[in-house]
Amino acid sequence: MATVDKDINEVSKKITKVKRIVKKRVEELEYKDLEETSVTEDVYWKDLEFSHPEKTVRLGTLFSGIGAIEHAFQRLGLKHNIVFAGDIEPNCKKSYFANYDIKEEDWFDDIRDFDARKYKGQVDLIVGGAPCQAFSMVGHRLGFEDARGTLFFEFARVVKETKPKVFLFENVRGLLNHDKGRTWHVMHDIFEELGYDVKFRVLNSRDYGIPQHRERVYCLGFKKKTNFLYPAPIELEYKMYDFLEDYIDSKYFLKEKGVKFVTSHKNREKSYTQINGDIQLCQKRNQQFNWHGDFVYHPQALDEIPDEKFDEFIFDVREVEEKYYLSEKVAKYVLAGGTKNFKTSTETDLDVARPLLQSMHKMHRAGVDNYVTHKGRIRKLTPRECLRLMGFKDSFKIVVSDTAMYQQAGNSIVVDVLIALLKQMDITKYGV
Ligand SMILES: C[S@@+](CC[C@H](N)C(=O)[O-])C[C@H]1O[C@@H](n2cnc3c(N)ncnc32)[C@H](O)[C@@H]1O
Repeated sequence: MATVDKDINEVSKKITKVKRIVKKRVEELEYKDLEETSVTEDVYWKDLEFSHPEKTVRLGTLFSGIGAIEHAFQRLGLKHNIVFAGDIEPNCKKSYFANYDIKEEDWFDDIRDFDARKYKGQVDLIVGGAPCQAFSMVGHRLGFEDARGTLFFEFARVVKETKPKVFLFENVRGLLNHDKGRTWHVMHDIFEELGYDVKFRVLNSRDYGIPQHRERVYCLGFKKKTNFLYPAPIELEYKMYDFLEDYIDSKYFLKEKGVKFVTSHKNREKSYTQINGDIQLCQKRNQQFNWHGDFVYHPQALDEIPDEKFDEFIFDVREVEEKYYLSEKVAKYVLAGGTKNFKTSTETDLDVARPLLQSMHKMHRAGVDNYVTHKGRIRKLTPRECLRLMGFKDSFKIVVSDTAMYQQAGNSIVVDVLIALLKQMDITKYGV
């Protein structure tokens, strides 16, 4: 009897072992890394011309926010028609309606209540960046129906219901590694299951003309098979400095506690804060409220005419941890308007402002001796600057509070990356 027990135990141990090996193999087989689509090597997307500028592109957006793709079409001067758009946040609706042409009945608030079937065959391009929920699609092999309950599912459902010629799904880079890559695998398979030729790649906006370190997955689906390759990176021509405003309201300046926080060694080391950087840290929806993100240091000039409105923000560089670092920055980054309590010109549009600011920069560099290097002020970025650093021109109307505007800018897609993608795929080909 004892021998039989022993045999059974041995067999069952062996079975467990084999089962474990098989399970591991299956996991490896099923979830081996998907490969990102490459970039072009010989085509410079900036030089590409649209083949059908006379055509109108019918656009549908989901999780629309402040309409990065809509703004991209405006900047490119391409004919387009907004078929539907929506966002659950009432402040986004305010911004959206102030900036784009859309009928009330084509707007939806909650995507979960949006029945898109009536738009079937009426959209050429759908764009959306679902908020990054902690997707959990683990366990078994999942298909379209199993993704129910997630906002990703809602995106896929609208694609299924409307069948656009092209879709763009944008998301955080981390999505590709979530749950050892399984989540992305499932999403990728679902897009294929819907009949699309799926491409994806992580792009950093600093490689497409905007000085912001922002990495995002840009997943494209084409209804007709394509040999699409992603636009190749270009050299960055501008620094964050070129995107700053001339006139800054005193409300953006930090008081003592804020100055101490953002200049602390720890925060700078950990890249929670950056002062006078060349390339912005990734813009986040709440960065301006917890003193994280990018800040601008204005040194005080000897010939500065005192203005009491700004007096309370002046601090002595020698009293902060990062005094050497800040002093170093003076020569490099003296702001236009800095000598006149930041009140030089009024609103500027970047196309004009960039070269102008650059020449002023030089002028101020020459006059650096005029600055008292141990006195200055630190401020956060303004909502307008945050928008510019997301690729939104000053034609974009701000109609919400600062708080809402920072959130909306931080949530958006960088317009310049979208422009590169639209050029690269020659979006007008898909118009009507
Ligand atoms: C990451 S942002 C995308 C912003 C957009 N791509 C842009 O260009 O500004 C996600 C957006 O989804 C919206 N959202 C979240 N849940 C939603 C829902 N259930 N229905 C519709 N919109 C939703 C949020 O309000 C937010 O504006």
